Amino acid sequence: MAKRVFKVWRGNLKGGDFTTFETDVDPGMVVLDVLHRIQAQQANDLALRWNCKAGKCGSCSMEINGKPRLACMTRMNSFAEDATITCQPLKTFPVMKDLVTDVSWNYAQNKKIPRFKPRPRDADGTYRMYQEDVDRVQEFRKCIECYLCQDVCHVLRDREKPAQHAKAGPGGASTRGAFVGPRFMIRLASLEMHPLDTDDRIPEIRKEFGSGMCNITRCCTEVCPEHIGITDNGIIPLKERVVDRYFDPIAIVGRALLGIRKRTKTRSEEAGEPAPVPQNKGPG
Ligand code: SF4
Ligand code: SF4
Ligand code: FES
Repeated sequence: MAKRVFKVWRGNLKGGDFTTFETDVDPGMVVLDVLHRIQAQQANDLALRWNCKAGKCGSCSMEINGKPRLACMTRMNSFAEDATITCQPLKTFPVMKDLVTDVSWNYAQNKKIPRFKPRPRDADGTYRMYQEDVDRVQEFRKCIECYLCQDVCHVLRDREKPAQHAKAGPGGASTRGAFVGPRFMIRLASLEMHPLDTDDRIPEIRKEFGSGMCNITRCCTEVCPEHIGITDNGIIPLKERVVDRYFDPIAIVGRALLGIRKRTKTRSEEAGEPAPVPQNKGPG
């Protein structure tokens, strides 16, 4: 057993600060274990979110020593023996209390994505797909919705107007733009690349989900606990499909010669309605 120093951010939407705790740490502990010990012995009202303690529910996301990580998968022996460990809430989302943030903005993005639209079954009542097509989208389905990638994406963090909520938190005001974020780019990729799906999401991917705003820094890929190739396997192929649809003159002429019609307007533009204004409301 060894004594370790933890600095844990405590506060709410109105403001807060780091509180220092000194606590015993046993061999084999992860950061979540230590936070639970602090909660049990020194700060009964410390708020933190967790469920599985196995890296599979995505609930214990926070920033540990400045990096977005899962507390239940961050082993204490990965830090130097005399290192102080800082734990703070995700900076991109509004703080609710202590280490808990309101991630409901993400659910609102998810709802905007057109649902899976499979083609009819084959004549014998089955679906046939190539294994390589299945494997390609299977990777995206490993997502545990921890939102670490959304937290680290500078487009979501820094761009556009400040959200109406979330002045507090160690990172100050959180911000929202018209970009749906890496987690939902891979959800879009999982649908767009699905071998059975028949829907065409390319106009929305460009205009409403903001594929052009990602500048391929790959920060999202680096923090993903499921090691999903978010940028290389999801976002870049989607960007290529957008370029092919809108900007590749050879592809455009080829489609015209072959009489292949592809949508360039979003569904709402085709219906004569103004394109939905990207939400910039923080949570909800
Ligand atoms: S690669 Fe794109 S989505 Fe990922 S963090 Fe960078 S800007 Fe955001
Ligand atoms: S893509 Fe990875 S980092 Fe992003 S929410 Fe899913 S599991 Fe978390
Ligand atoms: S508690 Fe489920 S991922 Fe950490």
